[in-house]
Amino acid sequence: MKYSSQSVAMPYFIAAIGLFVGQIIFGLAMGLQYVVGDFLFPAIPFNIARMVHTNLLIVWLLFGFMGATYFLVPEEAETELYSPKLALVMFWVFLLAGAATILGYLLVPYATLAEMTGNNILATMGREFLEQPLLTKIGIVIVALAFLFNITMTMLKGRKTVISIVLLMGLWGLAIFFLFSFYNPGNLVKDKFYWWWVVHLWVEGVWELIMAAILAFVLIKVTGVDREVIEKWLYVIITLALVTGLIGTGHHYFWIGTPAYWQWLGSVFSALEPIPFFAMTVFAFNMVNRRRREHPNKAAVLWALGTGVMAFLGAGVWGFLHTLAPVNYYTHGSQITAAHGHMAFYGAYVLVVLTMISYAMPLLRGRAANDERAQVCEMWGFWLMTISMVFITLFLTAAGILQVWLQRVSSTPMPFMAVQEQISLFYWMRLWAGVVFAAGLVTYLASFFVKGESKPLIHA
Ligand code: HEM
Ligand code: HEM
Ligand SMILES: [Fe+2]
Repeated sequence: MKYSSQSVAMPYFIAAIGLFVGQIIFGLAMGLQYVVGDFLFPAIPFNIARMVHTNLLIVWLLFGFMGATYFLVPEEAETELYSPKLALVMFWVFLLAGAATILGYLLVPYATLAEMTGNNILATMGREFLEQPLLTKIGIVIVALAFLFNITMTMLKGRKTVISIVLLMGLWGLAIFFLFSFYNPGNLVKDKFYWWWVVHLWVEGVWELIMAAILAFVLIKVTGVDREVIEKWLYVIITLALVTGLIGTGHHYFWIGTPAYWQWLGSVFSALEPIPFFAMTVFAFNMVNRRRREHPNKAAVLWALGTGVMAFLGAGVWGFLHTLAPVNYYTHGSQITAAHGHMAFYGAYVLVVLTMISYAMPLLRGRAANDERAQVCEMWGFWLMTISMVFITLFLTAAGILQVWLQRVSSTPMPFMAVQEQISLFYWMRLWAGVVFAAGLVTYLASFFVKGESKPLIHA
């Protein structure tokens, strides 16, 4: 660690990992509810568990992005953070608001929560991923503005690198598109149209900038490859991401009441969306192959390469699978969608945050890299989580293919629940893969407590 204010990243990383654990607990609960319908009923019904699972995912990724930024920007700008105090205050505001929201979901009926939190003043609740009460949404905006102010001021007083500019563009985009969560028109077509401006334009637009910047930062550090080379890659990747991803939003506009030309626009542009993800994979391997030094943090290199591969598989391959209008006509909203959602979120955003944590955490704890044994344990965590996520995806894909066939393609289509019964074997297998995922997460957590000699700080 070169600047003392980088240490504000630590609480953000710890909170991210803590909430990740919560997310997986609710994932497992739902995995069980899928096959044992009464599990936890009526205490925690499926719809509530789902909301907690997905909202925790988004919130911990945001903690991860903010922590990563607080670590990255002072080092790139070669100056201390503008206000470490503001960063710490905002950490607590975000954590408490987040915790209160989750408790609200769990303890109060959703309709009551809506009444209690001003949904009658401006109705924004009840939409997937954007379920947060108005007060929480306002809290998120305040935290985001304070964060962006802090980071922008830091960059203005320091060195401006391509990496930090791309990161900042991504973060501003994230905040700006979130504003569409306040727009909830009564017309269902318009509602869905703009809902995707948050959901799609986040993960297939501005978040890709954040991902590419974080990946580039870690790759420079662990490989020692020239900044100029990495910057050229970054330009190419973000251009490809924006050119394909913005109009690619059309792959959600096929049959929601929008004009028919979206079937062409959405199909063509989104079919190109795998390219920037593929470029990131090639980029990561290329940099590691051209490395000028052997960084002692082998685990961080593994996470970085894993991000490249898994993001391409989850977003690129599994995204492409159902993105053409004639295919999506059958697969829309099926288990194929869930299979893709899991591997894409895991491969791109979970892994990029864990890559940064893997690189930064030892430095924040005063060493260049963890002891060999701790790294081996961490890498076990990587493989267990990654391989079980591959299986979760494969089982859901199998379930999805059968589901689409039995319910939508067959000449004697079966009703939804009858089909669910037919494919329950795959839900059981998904559950077991989820248990292995949880074991991988525990292994990962354990790696932080494995003791040993630490390497001297000379390589950092
Ligand atoms: C890391 C990037 C990505 C993430 C995190 C992601 C995540 C998701 C999620 C969670 C959904 C489900 C949304 C819902 O609740 O309805 C979804 C839907 C979809 N995604 Fe992605 N995605 C990514 C990239 C891509 C790419 C690159 C493509 C195309 C090549 C793609 C194609 C689709 C399509 C077509 C749907 C709609 C599925 C349906 O009609 O049910 N995604 N994505
Ligand atoms: C880091 C790992 C994980 C990520 C990134 C993740 C992400 C997601 C996302 C994005 C959704 C919404 C999907 C959609 O709308 O298409 C979801 C739903 C769900 N997740 Fe996860 N999840 C993870 C781990 C798990 C685990 C370990 C389990 C347990 C076996 C699990 C079980 C579920 C279930 C049952 C749903 C509801 C699907 C539905 O509505 O039919 N998840 N998860
Ligand atoms: Fe999309």
